[in-house]
Amino acid sequence: KILLLKRHLERPSGTDDRKRRFSLNAYNMPRRAKRGDKRMKTILHVITQEMEKAFRDCGYEASYGKVTLSNRPDLCEYQCNGAMAAAKAYKKKPIEIAQAVVEKLKESSVFEDVNAVMPGFINLKIDASFLADYMNRMCSENKFGMDEVEKPETVIVDYGGANVAKPLHVGHLRAAVIGEAIKRMGRFVGHKTIGDVHLGDWGLQMGLIIEELKDRQPDLPYFDEAYTGEYPKEAPFTISELEEIYPAASAKSKVDEVFKERAQEATFKLQKGYAPYRALWNHIMNVSLADLKKNYANLNVEFDLWKGESDAEPYIPGMVQKLIDDGLAHESQGALVVDVAEEGDTKEIPPCIIRKSDGASLYATSDLATIVEREQDFKPDHYVYVVDKRQDLHFTQVFRVAKKAGIVPQERKLDFVGFGTMNGRDGKPFKTREGGVMRLEDLIAQITDAAYDRIMENRTVSEEEARETARLVGIAALKYGDLSNQATKDYVFDLDRFVSFEGNTGPYILYTIARINSILKKYEELGGQVSGGAILAPEGEPEKTLMLALARFSEVMHTSFEELAPHKICAYIYELSNALNHFYHETKIIAEENKERQAGYIRLVTLTRDVLTSSIHLLGFEAPERM
Ligand code: ARG
Repeated sequence: KILLLKRHLERPSGTDDRKRRFSLNAYNMPRRAKRGDKRMKTILHVITQEMEKAFRDCGYEASYGKVTLSNRPDLCEYQCNGAMAAAKAYKKKPIEIAQAVVEKLKESSVFEDVNAVMPGFINLKIDASFLADYMNRMCSENKFGMDEVEKPETVIVDYGGANVAKPLHVGHLRAAVIGEAIKRMGRFVGHKTIGDVHLGDWGLQMGLIIEELKDRQPDLPYFDEAYTGEYPKEAPFTISELEEIYPAASAKSKVDEVFKERAQEATFKLQKGYAPYRALWNHIMNVSLADLKKNYANLNVEFDLWKGESDAEPYIPGMVQKLIDDGLAHESQGALVVDVAEEGDTKEIPPCIIRKSDGASLYATSDLATIVEREQDFKPDHYVYVVDKRQDLHFTQVFRVAKKAGIVPQERKLDFVGFGTMNGRDGKPFKTREGGVMRLEDLIAQITDAAYDRIMENRTVSEEEARETARLVGIAALKYGDLSNQATKDYVFDLDRFVSFEGNTGPYILYTIARINSILKKYEELGGQVSGGAILAPEGEPEKTLMLALARFSEVMHTSFEELAPHKICAYIYELSNALNHFYHETKIIAEENKERQAGYIRLVTLTRDVLTSSIHLLGFEAPERM
């Protein structure tokens, strides 16, 4: 074993050192690589290349050597089903092809075990030294050796979608949580990713607030048409007043038709640029934005752009005119519409309304104008909208108009990530105990308190530390509880389950990280040096399973962004945490007498901690040092 370790460290170049040489070939990069080509290949890539070579050497098309993760982990780690397809093309028995390929691979140092089984599957087990070598490379490379995308794209992630002057509620939670994860994931794999909150800052709520304010404080200069002076710098309301004004006005508009019309009129005036209302609007924006920023910051959600529907306003007239000039928009019952139905639609896609008969523009108009603006400012290759899935039709219409009208070129990627509803345990949309809409702040407070109670059950830390830990655990519980579900699905907000330290939960992942930290601390207290040591070939099943899980990191990062699927990262870190805990139970790390092996264990758990920490960072939460 020690000899093996030495060989690994000294990298002898003797011709008999087949494994060493091979692993260099396998990564397809000499130690001192030329120019940019010095990154690691994903493990799947290495295995596939090896398999393709074997097919080619046997006289078959290399592409039959496609390898996938095993779906029978009891039998093998990876598998290749190519012999079945090749059998058809070459008119041979699949098992014969598989056996020939297996024969070629007998010498491979990537595999420890290669088997052909009926009718022609090839079962693969990875070589232990090869795997250890791969781990050591992961430890020393930036981003654990993950290659960034070859062609970085500019990606706009439109998420959050808060409405100014209305408090954030749990409906906005999913948009913020999923969008933030997708933004971070895109950035991590190498795209230029821009997050935009796309505020609802231009709608009827503004007119409602203005009219309600007029009723309450008619003497304000904004309501005096003869007033010519400067408008006050101070807003005539605080955030808590504003939060009370909007629901009151909204309720009033539902029973008072006259009031509603006044609000519509005020909204229209604002949109046309009426100076006093513009001044009021600025106050509403300032007061509300400060509050929104604070709330998003509490959720670890950071936007690059704080733009809103109002920013798209200047682009509307030109865009609408062009739609008319190009003959795309036509009148229908007084409104201006664009037909977007396409052959092969399985359900009816009604025309997209661009302008109402009273001249007002709509939600779709604003989204289209925003695309005009984004094309001008960023020319993004890819748009990702993270919005409630009930807005599916809206985005179908908007995307179709954008392409039809040439607002974006045909090849532009326009993606809608429509998410489901967060339900209460009764299966209905989540509400407060009184049946009202739960505010996001209150929800966060609730889950933080639950996490606090959980931490205090076996209190070992100070009150202050427990509070700070509870905050991190609470956010992790909330976000992981959300992100671990496929976005399109509805899910049940289950407080007790979400804050549990066991099972597929955020706190469980944090707990695993904390456990590793405590191992490392103990090792250091006993005089060990965490940064030394190299990972050795695994000896037992739990150790190898852990390494195999780690080796999949870059694969998972790429696929989850390509599929805009943060839940795949959750599934991955859950599996990784299970593998770590299993390894921990089966291995005496601190009591290990072979110091080199022990140092290898330490390196391995450190790598696991770092991979977990990076992964949760992508999901938008952080781990406390201990729990
Ligand atoms: N403000 C909208 C709402 O609360 C969401 C905005 C989503 N983004 C967009 N580009 N339409 O429903």
